[in-house]
Amino acid sequence: MIKKFDNFTERKKEFGFLTEIRKKAKISSIMLSMNKQDWKRTRAIVNPAFSTKKLKMVLPLIERSCDTLVEIFSDISRKNNGAELWRIFGQFDMEVILAAAFGCQVNILKGEKNSLTKAAIGIFTPNLYNLLSELCTQIPFSTKLFGLFFAKRLKLTQYHNTARNFILDVINQRHLQSYKNTNVDLLQLLMEAKAEDDQICPGSKQLTDDEIISVSLFFLLATYETTSNLLGFTAYLLAMNHDKQDKLTQEINNYYQCNKDSSLYDAAHGIEYLDWVINESLRIYAPGSMFSPHEKESHHPMCFMPFGAGPRNCIGMKLALMDAKMCLTSLLRKYKFERAPETQVPLKTSIGLSQSPVNGIFLRVLSK
Ligand code: HEM
Repeated sequence: MIKKFDNFTERKKEFGFLTEIRKKAKISSIMLSMNKQDWKRTRAIVNPAFSTKKLKMVLPLIERSCDTLVEIFSDISRKNNGAELWRIFGQFDMEVILAAAFGCQVNILKGEKNSLTKAAIGIFTPNLYNLLSELCTQIPFSTKLFGLFFAKRLKLTQYHNTARNFILDVINQRHLQSYKNTNVDLLQLLMEAKAEDDQICPGSKQLTDDEIISVSLFFLLATYETTSNLLGFTAYLLAMNHDKQDKLTQEINNYYQCNKDSSLYDAAHGIEYLDWVINESLRIYAPGSMFSPHEKESHHPMCFMPFGAGPRNCIGMKLALMDAKMCLTSLLRKYKFERAPETQVPLKTSIGLSQSPVNGIFLRVLSK
């Protein structure tokens, strides 16, 4: 992944069946499974959007979503029943990525109807296509056949179309308004790299229309699924381990006592125990084993890599951690997670495109 990266640049190929569905929706291969040349070209274009400096520019929008989440949790705590928090974290993360990647200020948490969230849920829910994917791996040459047949019929194709149309709308609006975004978000970087007439010259730093859609879509999906899982699993683990939740809350309070005017970003990054908790959550729901910074020293550096490693590691890692830490810091200042009668113990998870809770995550939220 690092020293011999040039020999191992490519990751798992996207499954043929999904490729057919994407082709039908005019979306090219997702970034995760691009071949070496396409990946190098694309990664070089999108890397600048994920620098710490660029990410800090969207802090006000993330803080805004954190504030809304705190309000929503206030309603949940008043009802005093178990609530399904995973879906709410998903809405929160959709707001964050729409802000960071597309400069869109939306109110999904406040109930604004959004076809995109529905599409994202549909694309990720393990369903018929998982079953068919399995089947296709067992029967040689069936992929193309099944792919073509089902691509026309499955809701999955509709969901991809919805997502594609959403992204096209944002692009068109920007063209119409001669959009000037001083933040330079992801979409603007992609649009500036658009190749004339969709012709990619060798060695150029350009993208075709379908690639622009595919890269944007993958950012939406990667955030929606992974970061909401991280938040949901962490809330669940804290509810099941009161002593750890109390310690984390104590650390947050201590931090604010010493740094009264701290920004949410500084607090989230200044509380070391929060980093431990997040890493432990990523360890439990991902392979590998490691704990604290002291333990880190005694382990092989590659035995814990929830975000991959080397030049092709997760491009969204900083954004995901920033988002999760800011969210947990603002919630734990006011609320406590508790096991509810509906909480599933042990939690059942399934591996679709990523690991997620099968039946959501039900917890009680207590106001402090
Ligand atoms: C807790 C949250 C997340 C986890 C655990 C996670 C995990 C991963 C992992 C394991 C990989 C594969 C790395 C490799 O092959 O070495 C990956 C790739 C990727 N992730 Fe994430 N991810 C998260 C959040 C995000 C977010 C928020 C975004 C986008 C904003 C994102 C975008 C991507 C992209 C584009 C790739 C492909 C990178 C490439 O091929 O160059 N991820 N992620």
